[in-house]
Amino acid sequence: MITEATKARFAREVAKYPPEQKQSAVMACLSIVQQEQGWVNQESEAVIADYLGMPQIAVHEVTTFYNMYNQQPVGKYKLAVCTNLPCQLRGGNQALQHLEARLGIEMGETTPDGMFTLQQCECLGACADAPAMLVSDRHMCSFMDNDKLDQLLAGLRAAEGRP
Ligand code: FES
Repeated sequence: MITEATKARFAREVAKYPPEQKQSAVMACLSIVQQEQGWVNQESEAVIADYLGMPQIAVHEVTTFYNMYNQQPVGKYKLAVCTNLPCQLRGGNQALQHLEARLGIEMGETTPDGMFTLQQCECLGACADAPAMLVSDRHMCSFMDNDKLDQLLAGLRAAEGRP
């Protein structure tokens, strides 16, 4: 559900653009929804479309074009491993496979306890740090060999008070 407080955040983004170009705030509005709700559903897309005066399908096209927008609920921590070529050449796929083995899920799935969703992603602009990954759309992790991946999982579990 989109609250008035959320719409106030939309308004701050819209104010950054000329009035006749308020649709330029669509990505920011989608990001706000994702921050607050964890994912973007069709109801939210409809509210954003109405708010920005654009067709709902145009909002949906943005949601589906950028893979950082979650189109379904995700776990508390979204682990996105870059599998573009520079990362592939330096262990990106092995990093993904290591996480699949450690979490007992396959790419695209969420652990049964709802803690982790594992995804692959496009280039994060950190190719020199390969293999690179992004945690919950915010925290970049570099040089993710198996030891660092294990440390990451242990740290996130510890933060949640889990073994
Ligand atoms: Fe992985 Fe660029 S290819 S960060």
